[in-house]
Amino acid sequence: MSSAAALVLSARGVVKTFVSGESKLEILHGVDLDLVAGERLALMGPSGAGKSTLLHVLGLLERPTAGSVTLEGTDAWSLGTEQRASLRNRHLGFVFQFYHLIAELDAVENVMLPAMIAQSRGEFASRKREHLAKARGLLEGFGLGARLKHRPTQLSGGERQRVALARALFLDPPILIADEPTGNLDRDTGEVVLELLFREQQRRQLSLLLVTHDERLAARCEHVLRMDAGRISNGRRDAR
Ligand SMILES: Nc1ncnc2c1ncn2[C@@H]1O[C@H](COP(=O)(O)OP(=O)(O)OP(=O)(O)O)[C@@H](O)[C@H]1O
Ligand SMILES: [Mg+2]
Repeated sequence: MSSAAALVLSARGVVKTFVSGESKLEILHGVDLDLVAGERLALMGPSGAGKSTLLHVLGLLERPTAGSVTLEGTDAWSLGTEQRASLRNRHLGFVFQFYHLIAELDAVENVMLPAMIAQSRGEFASRKREHLAKARGLLEGFGLGARLKHRPTQLSGGERQRVALARALFLDPPILIADEPTGNLDRDTGEVVLELLFREQQRRQLSLLLVTHDERLAARCEHVLRMDAGRISNGRRDAR
């Protein structure tokens, strides 16, 4: 078993309750999860199990109702909004099933977005050349050298997801969280995205947390967690 020191991301007792009008719905019932440095961890489970909800909490996009998320040793949800955003920018990249690209921005601009958000206007402006070169380099490395100026609507699904992957990696985060990154793509297109994802995971030694419905994909991960109805049914400690 890996030592606690190698944990890069962990959840303890995460509860998430959604309130709509009078009704309250508890979706996550106290989830524990550990991501170890450099590993590929898959999270599988039926639709509605709470996988995306958990990723959003782990990715610091959605506050848990109870429980904690520790990112690189910091209790992330106890921080203020700005500090948490800064922590997220330095450590986490996130890839969504439906890309979440900005329609008004071209591919290069979408890729640079994390720097635009993380840096002051002045710093971003002064480093713009460097950022442009880096964004272009990433896109070229992902086979999109001829699509740099394309807006999302001018790109295929697979191309959009490659742009989204480049964006997630732009600030060189050590952790990548991907929520069904190929769930919206046909098999062949999905393969292209996956090969890039795993290539980058290896090359950068990323800690990867991947939600997928695809057993073949999960088989390429070192560990597979199963989630059902808001609970992880095979805790890692039991699974080993
Ligand atoms: N913002 C929200 N408000 C209310 N309920 C929500 C919200 N987001 C998710 N839910 C509910 O939480 C449950 C889990 O949703 P979630 O998207 O996490 O499932 P999932 O495991 O990712 O499913 P899928 O495999 O279909 O993506 C669902 O029943 C959903 O309706
Ligand atoms: Mg989901």
